[in-house]
Amino acid sequence: MDAAREVLNIVVVGHVDHGKSTVIGRLLYDTKSLPEGAIDRVKRISKEKGKPFEYAYLLDAFEEEQKQGITIDTTQLQFRTDKRDYVIIDAPGHKEFLKNMISGAASAEAALLIIDANEGIQEQSKRHGYILSLLGIQKAYVLVNKMDLIDYSEDKFNEIRNDMNEFLNNLNVFPLKYIPISAFFGENMIVKSDKMPWYKGEPVLTAIDLFEKEKGLEGRALRFPIQDVYKFDNRRIIAGRIETGTLKKGDEVLISPSNKTTKVKSIEYWADKDQTDSVYAGMSVGITVEDEFFNQRGEFIVHPTAAPLVSDTFKANLFWMGKKELVKNKEYKLKLVTQEVECEIHAISKVIDATNLETVENASQVKTNDVAEVIIKTKRPISFDEFKNNQVTGRFVLVDGYDVSGGGIVSGLVTEIQTTTQFINNELKITANCFDEYYFILSEGSIRRIEARPRIFKVGDVIPTAGKTYDYPENFDVFDLKAKLAAKIRNFKLQDLVPLSEYTFESVPVIDSKGSYIKIASNDDYVNFKHDLELLTNWENKKSALQANKWLDFSKFRTIRYIGTLEADDMDYSI
Ligand code: GTP
Ligand code: MG
Repeated sequence: MDAAREVLNIVVVGHVDHGKSTVIGRLLYDTKSLPEGAIDRVKRISKEKGKPFEYAYLLDAFEEEQKQGITIDTTQLQFRTDKRDYVIIDAPGHKEFLKNMISGAASAEAALLIIDANEGIQEQSKRHGYILSLLGIQKAYVLVNKMDLIDYSEDKFNEIRNDMNEFLNNLNVFPLKYIPISAFFGENMIVKSDKMPWYKGEPVLTAIDLFEKEKGLEGRALRFPIQDVYKFDNRRIIAGRIETGTLKKGDEVLISPSNKTTKVKSIEYWADKDQTDSVYAGMSVGITVEDEFFNQRGEFIVHPTAAPLVSDTFKANLFWMGKKELVKNKEYKLKLVTQEVECEIHAISKVIDATNLETVENASQVKTNDVAEVIIKTKRPISFDEFKNNQVTGRFVLVDGYDVSGGGIVSGLVTEIQTTTQFINNELKITANCFDEYYFILSEGSIRRIEARPRIFKVGDVIPTAGKTYDYPENFDVFDLKAKLAAKIRNFKLQDLVPLSEYTFESVPVIDSKGSYIKIASNDDYVNFKHDLELLTNWENKKSALQANKWLDFSKFRTIRYIGTLEADDMDYSI
């Protein structure tokens, strides 16, 4: 490949037989990127075997050439347009593919998702859509293939486009274009098809050239992770490799996560000929700064206007290859560029079996070769970026004991770790402790409240009315006395949230947000209760207890169960 030319890596995904190889074969053929004589050979072999010619076979021919050592890496195919060079990554869904993508061995900047117009959206179309989301691939086109089988129908095309769009948008994947094609007959591949005059967009090859390549590494935000700090003639030289961006002498810099600012005093050099005032991505350098703080390995030197994320908790997608399962509440070591820190898996949101891409929600562990969406908590805050913004500082490995056992990419910050159960409707929110359990612990001789697993209930969600130490009816209302809100539960579902000022009594039992029954049996009772409400919630005032004893009944829907110790068998509580 010509070093000066731009290269874009594209991954082609889609359900079995929907035409991935045919699309690629076409692109290779039409851009004259095939090895000499390949097409004739494939035609001849097809004829000898009595099979029709397939563009997909061209890929085999290509790979055969590669196996003989003529071209590069066997898993990747290349073609070029006037604009730039392309590397095509084929056959995802395969575990090696996911592993390579997450570990950084391969990287796709853009994707083509192929759907057979006749078969429509299939399981793998969805799963592959999910992979795009998992890998944070933002640039994607959906190619609706085999349009010849549905008479190039615009209606059918629109139907598929709408369905797929709805599905992908839920995953935060927003395809830039939907292109109707017939890869086999070359319709809308290289030139616009006259069979689909209703399609106003570009053919595939033109559209691919429109994928915007991210800026080169030098043009991005500065990320200079400190590798070491050397003492040298009384100076402290900060050494490391500039991963992205450009750094100049005199620049104001921020040291993250310790969050100190200073200026670059000098850029060091060994030989006079290497003297420079500006260094950029890919270079290993040593610098000095004006204020000599105690800088340490792991910190990032960045520009204050483009700081990385700093947190001790983040969401990640990871590929696990450890001998032992990845589990929660165990200590692992996380390495992110030059940072090393102890961490724990705080939550396993989803596990994907990489061989068939089946998913399991809320799994308790991640097995070898599984991919998982997790929340990681580090012992101290670290600096990082989302993978989609920076592929170096958005990637990490996990070490279990002495073995590198997993690789992952940062998918985002955890904006709010949910610690309580809530009823939510738009802006209205009630913290619902009514699903907590109360136990009398024999070994302690005291009563304890054990919080329920935190969950969000939105309007329409079924709520758990029967717990171990509570049993609520099918219809009831929950008052949040402090927030002055009411939640209506009807037919076991959250129906509505209203301010108490707008509440009317509907002759169903009322409880407070901790699960105590409120003795309201009529609208008159409710009026009186409202009158006493201020006193009841002013807990510093002795009268609040009086009011509580008057209005509340803890044991109407609740009970307290005896257990030996908190670890006793019948407590399958987990968080
Ligand atoms: P796998 O690699 O097995 O997952 O399949 P694939 O997605 O690579 O599909 P492939 O390109 O091998 O095509 C599958 C079949 O669909 C082949 O017989 C193709 O000839 C046929 N095919 C591909 N594109 C078209 C098309 O535009 N129209 C019609 N009618 N058939 C097509
Ligand atoms: Mg194929």
